[in-house]
Amino acid sequence: MHTPPRHVALIMDGNGRWAEQRGCERADGHSAGEEGVVASVRAAVDSGVSWLTLFAFSTENWRRPQPEVDFIMRLNQRVIRNNLRAWNDMDVRMRYLGVADARIPKCVYEDIAFAEDLTRNNRTLTLTVALDHGGRRDLARAARSIVAHGVPADQITEETLAGHMQFPDLPDVDLLVRTSAEHRLSNFMLWQAAYAELVFLDVLWPDFRAEHFRQAVDLYHRRQRRFGDVSQPAAQAAAVSTSA
Ligand code: IPE
Ligand code: IPE
Ligand code: MG
Repeated sequence: MHTPPRHVALIMDGNGRWAEQRGCERADGHSAGEEGVVASVRAAVDSGVSWLTLFAFSTENWRRPQPEVDFIMRLNQRVIRNNLRAWNDMDVRMRYLGVADARIPKCVYEDIAFAEDLTRNNRTLTLTVALDHGGRRDLARAARSIVAHGVPADQITEETLAGHMQFPDLPDVDLLVRTSAEHRLSNFMLWQAAYAELVFLDVLWPDFRAEHFRQAVDLYHRRQRRFGDVSQPAAQAAAVSTSA
């Protein structure tokens, strides 16, 4: 029996292509992606994963046409409204990573704050939604926070930086999955994914279901995590200490 990955992060990609294949609007692809979100939350809980992070909107996605941006923002609000009660009943804690841009509509902020507040004591799964997230911006923000706290330069360590991230308790990513056959990080969780196992699946996000989640976890279990070491037992010990 394998220990499940503690933190799984998903780059939900391929909504536009899914819609295009059906002669639909890109917005239809985003809407259809809600089913993949619901399936992955359920699959994470069923697999014993305790941290799930979903990439919903990047700092670069502001470059998209305004109607598409507006649609994605409203969709995030709809996903909260449609699923909050069920996720709360499943003991899921919701948190939003990023959400720093003034262009995010106030009513979307309000639903986010409500969801975070309602679920703050849940612990079976922490669902982090990366919305208006960029790995580089996270690092710049942490650097600003360190300076603002007056930490002397010669006392800044990796732990200092980790402690000044938006969510210092967010563990390292063990398994990072990207759908739609794209092989890149697109500025996702650059700090936390430093030693993640990368899995790229051909499935387009709206078709993502529990079986794909399980497939990615199976691939993860077949990997040998070494963390720079050479001897198998030492590497396993490192894996245990990073996921403790
Ligand atoms: C992912 O699907 C959703 C977001 C980036 C918000 P895309 O919209 O990127 O879909 P493709 O890559 O164009 O198919
Ligand atoms: C990354 O997907 C962002 C999300 C999945 C939210 P993109 O489709 O925006 O990434 P690029 O532009 O192909 O790198
Ligand atoms: Mg894309």
